[in-house]
Amino acid sequence: MSEQFPEGFLWGTSTSAHQVEGSNFNSDHWLLEHVEPTVFVEPSGDACDQYHRYESDIAMLADLGFNTYRFSVEWARIEPEPGFFSRTELDHYRRVVEACHKYSISPVVTLHHFTSPRWLAGCGGWESDATPDLFGQYALKVAESLGSDIDYVCTINELNIVALLKAFGGAFFDVDKVRDMLSAGAKASGLDSYPTFFYGDADRIEPIVIEAHNKAVQAVHSVRSDLPVGMTVAIQDFQAVEGGEDLMLEQRYKAQDVYLEAAKDGDFIGVQTYTRMLFGPDGLLPPSLDSELTQMGYEFCPEALEATIRHAVKITGSPALVTENGIGTDDDARRIVFLRKALEGVLRCLEDGIDVRGYCQWSLLDNFEWMLGYRPTFGIVSVDRNTQERIPKPSATWLGQMAKGNALLSD
Ligand code: BGC
Repeated sequence: MSEQFPEGFLWGTSTSAHQVEGSNFNSDHWLLEHVEPTVFVEPSGDACDQYHRYESDIAMLADLGFNTYRFSVEWARIEPEPGFFSRTELDHYRRVVEACHKYSISPVVTLHHFTSPRWLAGCGGWESDATPDLFGQYALKVAESLGSDIDYVCTINELNIVALLKAFGGAFFDVDKVRDMLSAGAKASGLDSYPTFFYGDADRIEPIVIEAHNKAVQAVHSVRSDLPVGMTVAIQDFQAVEGGEDLMLEQRYKAQDVYLEAAKDGDFIGVQTYTRMLFGPDGLLPPSLDSELTQMGYEFCPEALEATIRHAVKITGSPALVTENGIGTDDDARRIVFLRKALEGVLRCLEDGIDVRGYCQWSLLDNFEWMLGYRPTFGIVSVDRNTQERIPKPSATWLGQMAKGNALLSD
């Protein structure tokens, strides 16, 4: 097997605004982190203060050997009140993009990564038919401001997350407590309900997020038709033991394939994979007792990525960009094993002629892992929570070496 990646392959890491910037207090998540009861074990607070430290983070990435950074811009900052677009915040993200260019880093920009402005809930949130247009207007402003200088746009991060959480969320969090948290969010906002992106009614949200994705594609292309815009989907490798095949296919269709079909013939499909999901005749099976588990309780399964790239490209007919892949672990040596195996899968796809444009590992930094706070560590760089000092782990040096060589080199 050739160990060389094609010329121009993107080697990057990913982050999202709410998880690294800090003080995202105008967002719906911030409110939910602070109401009682909440499912968040701790609030995001200052996060990794990347709002101020973006330049040194980008310089560090370049120094390690990467050529790409996937980050998100925050709707709650850019449009703090409906229809008011903050020039100051758009300028902030322009400076982030300029810093990428200064250090020869290719910017991959996500428009929405789970968080929305607080005011959106008052307009019906992600359950309202008006939201795709609102999202399209926001996407247009971002494209007008940044479009000429960025290389890829991801519209809505994992727009199928709601469907996945609906089907399997009970395995990850207390569904009753989520309901109580949303009621508290509604009360704190003087609303009857609090329809966020993350915890909303999946059936209601599905057509709305797909339409919002389409509006964003149109908006970005109206500014720059050659700027690749794509959907990113949480795609785990759905597998079945004997007797579980039909159920697996049914569940995979609802949770993933509906969205992949809606992304057909896009400029690219963003593949975000963490593990496999195994189905028996009665449903999702827990990982076997002897399997290695990550901090998220997922089965250690780097091989899943090869399968999900193949699946996503087969359905969409689009080139793939791995926009997230990684592991929550405090054993960095296992992270290196995970990354190597995942990249071997990417190489096999390339060898079979599949167009994979790049690999963005999740995540650059140990950051705010939503409901689980700062406990899971996905970063190749750790962050001192008191001083915000960045400390690259061996996996950062390792992956950076692969990036520099544009190859899967031997250790
Ligand atoms: C999300 C990230 C999250 C990561 C690890 C992805 O589903 O896009 O925000 O931190 O998974 O759990």
